Amino acid sequence: MAGKLEGKVALITGAGGGIGRAGAVAFVREGAAVVVAEIDAERGEETAQLARETGGRATFVQTDVTQPEAVEAAVAAALREYGRLDVMYNNAGFSMNEEQGVVDTPIEVWNQTYAVNLFGSYLFCKYAIPELAKAGGGSIISTASVAGLAGAWKKHAYATAKAGIIGLTRTIALEYAAQGIRANAICPGVTMSPRLRQRLTDNPALAEGYRKRQPLGLCEPEDIAATALFLASDDSRMITGQYIVVDGGHLLDTGRAL
Ligand SMILES: NC(=O)c1ccc[n+]([C@@H]2O[C@H](COP(=O)([O-])OP(=O)(O)OC[C@H]3O[C@@H](n4cnc5c(N)ncnc54)[C@H](O)[C@@H]3O)[C@@H](O)[C@H]2O)c1
Repeated sequence: MAGKLEGKVALITGAGGGIGRAGAVAFVREGAAVVVAEIDAERGEETAQLARETGGRATFVQTDVTQPEAVEAAVAAALREYGRLDVMYNNAGFSMNEEQGVVDTPIEVWNQTYAVNLFGSYLFCKYAIPELAKAGGGSIISTASVAGLAGAWKKHAYATAKAGIIGLTRTIALEYAAQGIRANAICPGVTMSPRLRQRLTDNPALAEGYRKRQPLGLCEPEDIAATALFLASDDSRMITGQYIVVDGGHLLDTGRAL
């Protein structure tokens, strides 16, 4: 049986990490050729290798998503390597572990958080959209967060950038529907990427707090990848301008259950 992404080419940013890596493997399993755009060369190459081990095609391009020339080069590399682009998955992101209020956050922290999470997503849209249009349409998926919907305690730069992704997504959905380009966002709840797993192991109280917040338990990267696969594939051909919350119930009012 043909895979759901047979013949398609997908570019995934931040795919050296938990959620992006799970996405890369899931996409390749369904027949896509995947370009891993990641700042960390070792982890990016490791993801491409893992994806190839599933029997498909994957390549790594070292990319800092905050740099316009690097983003343009990553899109060009996808075209050079595989001849087209069908899926743009903006997933690179980061947030400072330290909690800092609006008044105390250094301006550089705000700028860097914003640059990776929002400006980088915008840049990839800017350079990928013409290629998606040439391919006859395509799917843009961007990783927002429950933080972008509910706010996040002393992580205002992150929460604001993730909220911005939803605005970017809805605007692109409107502007490019005529070219067959869809744009959707995913809002994960707390998800066990290797980095977070380590943090929770080091801080059991934090782990306990998170578990109480998500009635279904903590998400695994593969839970988010399954939704990304749905949004990348034609199964979601009539879905655009939406954000899908994959959060184990994080945004429910758990007040009574705690
Ligand atoms: N894990 C969670 O609980 C959670 C919850 C909500 C949203 N998210 C979002 O999901 C996405 C993936 O996060 P994850 O949990 O897999 O974390 P992760 O840290 O494992 O992965 C993020 C990846 O992005 C890469 N990256 C960072 N800056 C970059 C840059 N300038 N250019 C290119 N790549 C860069 C990192 O090297 C890393 O490999 C992020 O956008 C994150 O904000 C995560």
